[in-house]
Amino acid sequence: MSLSLFNLSGKRALITGGTQGIGFSIAKGLGEAGASLVINARNSEKLTQCIQELKSLRIDAIGALFDVTNAESVKEAIHEIETHIGPIDILVNNAGIIRRSPAEGMKLTLSITSRGR
Ligand SMILES: NC(=O)c1ccc[n+]([C@@H]2O[C@H](COP(=O)([O-])OP(=O)(O)OC[C@H]3O[C@@H](n4cnc5c(N)ncnc54)[C@H](O)[C@@H]3O)[C@@H](O)[C@H]2O)c1
Repeated sequence: MSLSLFNLSGKRALITGGTQGIGFSIAKGLGEAGASLVINARNSEKLTQCIQELKSLRIDAIGALFDVTNAESVKEAIHEIETHIGPIDILVNNAGIIRRSPAEGMKLTLSITSRGR
């Protein structure tokens, strides 16, 4: 597929939970289109392996270790990234988990929307 219509050279993308699965595939796609990547993860070993793999594909990537559910860590990490590397142009808000449960047992509101309110 030609990526010439989707040229992201000069753009910087942050992909949360980007070391595996959908996040990693999106990261690779953005990197192949020319974007510089910041890959977020909680596990430093997996993050190092991921960055090495992207670099072996000639994709410019660095890692950012933080937990997206920790608001303070997120704030610090974004400040660090934007201070030392520059503004983030693209955010892929991918990190997450799936908890499968029967629909009849689900609440009408998600617990994350009511947390802290
Ligand atoms: N795969 C599916 O069928 C499906 C369906 C609907 C939604 N999703 C959502 O899409 C996203 C990616 O799915 P996937 O299948 O690639 O999942 P995955 O579990 O393979 O990858 C998710 C990544 O996010 C990371 N992560 C989770 N919580 C985090 C946190 N608090 N801080 C930082 N990183 C964190 C995990 O460690 C993992 O590396 C997830 O948000 C998932 O909920 C997936």
